[in-house]
Amino acid sequence: MAAEQYSVQAELGEASPKPAESIAPRPSASSWRTATISDAVIRIEGLHKLYETSAGLFPALKDVSLNIAAGEFVAIMGPSGSGKSTFMNLLGCLDKPSAGRYVLDGRDVEKLGKDELALLRNRTIGFVFQGFNLLPRMSLLENVALPLIYCGITSDERQQRAQALLSKVGLDGYAASMPNKISGGQQQRVAIARALINRPRLLLADEPTGNLDSQTSKEIMALFEGLNSEGITIVLVTHEPDIAQYAKRQVRFFDGRVVSDQITHQEAAV
Ligand SMILES: Nc1ncnc2c1ncn2[C@@H]1O[C@H](COP(=O)(O)OP(=O)(O)OP(=O)(O)O)[C@@H](O)[C@H]1O
Ligand SMILES: [Mg+2]
Repeated sequence: MAAEQYSVQAELGEASPKPAESIAPRPSASSWRTATISDAVIRIEGLHKLYETSAGLFPALKDVSLNIAAGEFVAIMGPSGSGKSTFMNLLGCLDKPSAGRYVLDGRDVEKLGKDELALLRNRTIGFVFQGFNLLPRMSLLENVALPLIYCGITSDERQQRAQALLSKVGLDGYAASMPNKISGGQQQRVAIARALINRPRLLLADEPTGNLDSQTSKEIMALFEGLNSEGITIVLVTHEPDIAQYAKRQVRFFDGRVVSDQITHQEAAV
């Protein structure tokens, strides 16, 4: 099917850029939740993403607006091709939107220079992918410590922090092992430890259990739950309702748009 010809301006219509003050909580339905400006780690307003294809511009995201507060645990769901990974890539500043506004931890991403953006990304975000992405010729300890090489941290401290994180994810004693000598679940634990090494406030995970059996998936999700209860904000893509149950909020994409946004676990009142 040919990609439809697409105009961001036409799509934006009345949703053209608004001042920051107008990014207000969405009214009405209690199932919708929008973080207040002060506690939002992620504020997204009118985001569009167009891909250039041989058949013309293809709109992968259309007018997506979403706020995510500090401490939330959000599952992103939706059919294949609905724009989930495109959205995660934008959240992680791995790609740029075609239009719209993205404020990450209080900083308008579009206004940052390349170095500032890299710094904000490294300090704020940890990534976990479906394919683990460990470097095969490095030990588990070296894999976990790798992101710290660019941070001017001494080798001793790098090793200590990596060791502590391997323990945290249940891999004490595996520091010297190589990635091809451990199971998929263990590899994903290493990838989570690596994602945490810069002490991020936000963990982004795109189908982190996609390559794992159901028991191992449960163990990985229990690990995410624990990290969230320590205060780390988590945004996780999954196809599986069982996995999404671990999150406290479920956002569903369809055809490049957010079509539902529901709180699924309410915090107990204090
Ligand atoms: N680099 C690209 N160039 C052109 N089109 C792309 C590109 N990346 C993604 N798309 C298209 O954008 C749409 C959304 O893709 P995306 O990968 O975000 O979907 P997804 O919801 O993550 O799907 P899945 O569940 O299969 O991972 C798809 O139609 C896809 O073909
Ligand atoms: Mg995807």
